[in-house]
Amino acid sequence: MPHAEDFAKGLSIGIIMDGNGRWAKKRGLPRTAGHKKGAEVFQDITRYCNALGVASVTFYAFSTENWKRPEEEVSSIMRLFGDYLIKAFDYEKENNRVVFLGDRTALAPKYQKQMNEIEERTRSNTGMVLNIAVNYGGRPEIVRAAQILAQRVKDGALQPQDITEEMMSDCMYTRGQKDPDFILRPSGEKRLSNFMLWQAAYSELVEMDVLWPDFTRDDLDTAIEEFNHRSRRFGGI
Ligand code: IPE
Ligand code: IPE
Ligand code: MG
Repeated sequence: MPHAEDFAKGLSIGIIMDGNGRWAKKRGLPRTAGHKKGAEVFQDITRYCNALGVASVTFYAFSTENWKRPEEEVSSIMRLFGDYLIKAFDYEKENNRVVFLGDRTALAPKYQKQMNEIEERTRSNTGMVLNIAVNYGGRPEIVRAAQILAQRVKDGALQPQDITEEMMSDCMYTRGQKDPDFILRPSGEKRLSNFMLWQAAYSELVEMDVLWPDFTRDDLDTAIEEFNHRSRRFGGI
């Protein structure tokens, strides 16, 4: 599809990487194979977002609810997380600033250490912000914000009536970032599944029938084109 050079410039995009299991099942493969292919697609789509001049992209990699899955699947996802998201991606070459969203204290200490190091190393990179949501849930994120502000009230540094939306936003993992312009969910599901509940207040929702491991650069073009044709009103007329 032909599109203007800057059709994606400055956008903030949220992506719920869904459909790995169904992709594998269709091929008679173990679910793990779907997660592996999905991790490869994550890398390719990240590079493409960079090339398009996207301002920030948030990938939903593992939710606070995904611990309900069989132990074997959870540990294979965590291994892939280590291999693809932490080790085998050249965030510096891409000039990305990487931020991990979610409660990392539940992850293996070696991953926590690597996550902290990547954030530290890429902190002053000037290119795209790359958020990776792992052990992330929108509700726990809001609860955490409430706890931070409640502590300030308890310390006498803040009056309850002085709490603002901006203060709440500053207590989210996405502190200082623009809210997503649109949230993309492949695999045909039409729900947020606890993704960016605070930040999604006015995000456009784009759902697509393709399974994440099959997702291509052309599919991202299609999603962006769809977003570009939406009429956003933010409550106005
Ligand atoms: C998304 O794919 C990956 C994670 C949630 C970690 P799924 O594993 O949910 O794939 P489906 O929805 O079962 O097809
Ligand atoms: C959402 O997908 C979580 C991630 C993609 C990481 P799920 O597959 O876990 O969501 P549900 O269970 O279908 O709502
Ligand atoms: Mg799913």
